[in-house]
Amino acid sequence: MSEKPWGGRFESPTDEFVEAFNASTDVDARMFAEDIAGSKAHARMLCEQGILSQQDLNAILRGLDEISGEINSGEFEFTIALEDVHMNIEARLTEKIGDAGKRLHTARSRNDQVTTDTRLYLRRRTDAMIERIRDLQSVLVGLASEHVDTIMPGFTHLQTAQPVTLGHHLLAYVEMFERDAGRFLDARKRMNQCPLGSAALAGTTFPINRQATANALGFDAPTANSLDAVSDRDYIMELLAAASICAVHLSRFSEELILWMSAQFGFIDLPDAFCTGSSIMPQKKNPDMPELVRGKSGRIIGGLVAILTTVKGLPLAYNKDMQEDKTAIFDAYDNLEGSLRVFGDMLPGMQVNREAMHKAASSGFATATDLADALVRAGVPFREAHAIVGKSVSFCIHRHIELHEMDTEACADIDPLLDVDMVRALSVEACVAARNHIGGTAPAQVRQQVAEWQDRLA
Ligand code: ARG
Repeated sequence: MSEKPWGGRFESPTDEFVEAFNASTDVDARMFAEDIAGSKAHARMLCEQGILSQQDLNAILRGLDEISGEINSGEFEFTIALEDVHMNIEARLTEKIGDAGKRLHTARSRNDQVTTDTRLYLRRRTDAMIERIRDLQSVLVGLASEHVDTIMPGFTHLQTAQPVTLGHHLLAYVEMFERDAGRFLDARKRMNQCPLGSAALAGTTFPINRQATANALGFDAPTANSLDAVSDRDYIMELLAAASICAVHLSRFSEELILWMSAQFGFIDLPDAFCTGSSIMPQKKNPDMPELVRGKSGRIIGGLVAILTTVKGLPLAYNKDMQEDKTAIFDAYDNLEGSLRVFGDMLPGMQVNREAMHKAASSGFATATDLADALVRAGVPFREAHAIVGKSVSFCIHRHIELHEMDTEACADIDPLLDVDMVRALSVEACVAARNHIGGTAPAQVRQQVAEWQDRLA
């Protein structure tokens, strides 16, 4: 009645719409290389264990290689009637080599097969993602080295706080991306166990060698519990969490670039190749790439929420709901990798307006804390110093001047402890240079950090 590989007990065919709705080939076909690698390892193991003849193994290996060639050259036609990548490849194998192809699925189920393929595929993509992060870090360290002493305002509450160096600001992102790479590496370690042999859920009656398939596929070990192995999607959650956090970092960075490129800030200009114009306003040059990357974080976070929500009510072991896992993680990976690439390509062409940054840092009383610190050094308790400088700021606001522009008379008026030399010594250069300790914004520290990062990323 039915031509499905599982059709034996069925009396009528699958509903036509359900066939399309149920199929996952549009999503999982991209795992074909991993599916073939998994099948080869499984078949070799079956043969070593005396479960499959050498002749059948040879035919299977040859057939799988041919199929790999067909898919790579675009000749292979995936059909939704065969649901997913696994059954498409298996059916084609049988078409090519006959009965030997039908023996491949001995001691295996699609349930251990799909999660093996997904782990292998995501392992490869995770390694590439980490590479992308490293590339972006290198670009940022390069920029930081050019801007160890470029002074800009540092903000809290998006209000001018204290001067910082642009190099220091860029290295803040290098730190974030380092933690992101660490999260991917950590998740990769946990995911690198081989589910093959767990079969449908309980294991198999055949004398398989799980260590052999695990080794052949580069896994650290076979998974320890068959029920867990086929229903565990923690690795997808972890990778999506790592991806979401990395996307959030890119999104914060995007937001800054967008602000910095506005006429109101005027700190930077992004290369034309990464911006677009407006169809109505001829003057416009919009920072589309940072905006889009900021937007991508939404769908990546959406993927994390999707997988958590999908799995949370599922009884052990495999349930079809799990087919949705790949949609979420593949979309997140494609978009995160693209975002990292765009940033790595765009940032070397960023123009920095040092004068505008310096000017912004020199207004808005960014040196106020340093004046309070100078009073403290002269013996004034910090809270008192804070109040004196607060009064000074208020005075300057009314006079439309900056702190370093106060004269002797003004200082004496505000407080006898306020020395005009302290006020005259204020400069944004002095502010940043003085923060010269581990983690501080001083050019000397940033230079040191740049050198350390250059070593680490070399
Ligand atoms: N296409 C399925 C998935 O991605 C493969 C596993 C299906 N197993 C099953 N017994 N229906 O999850």
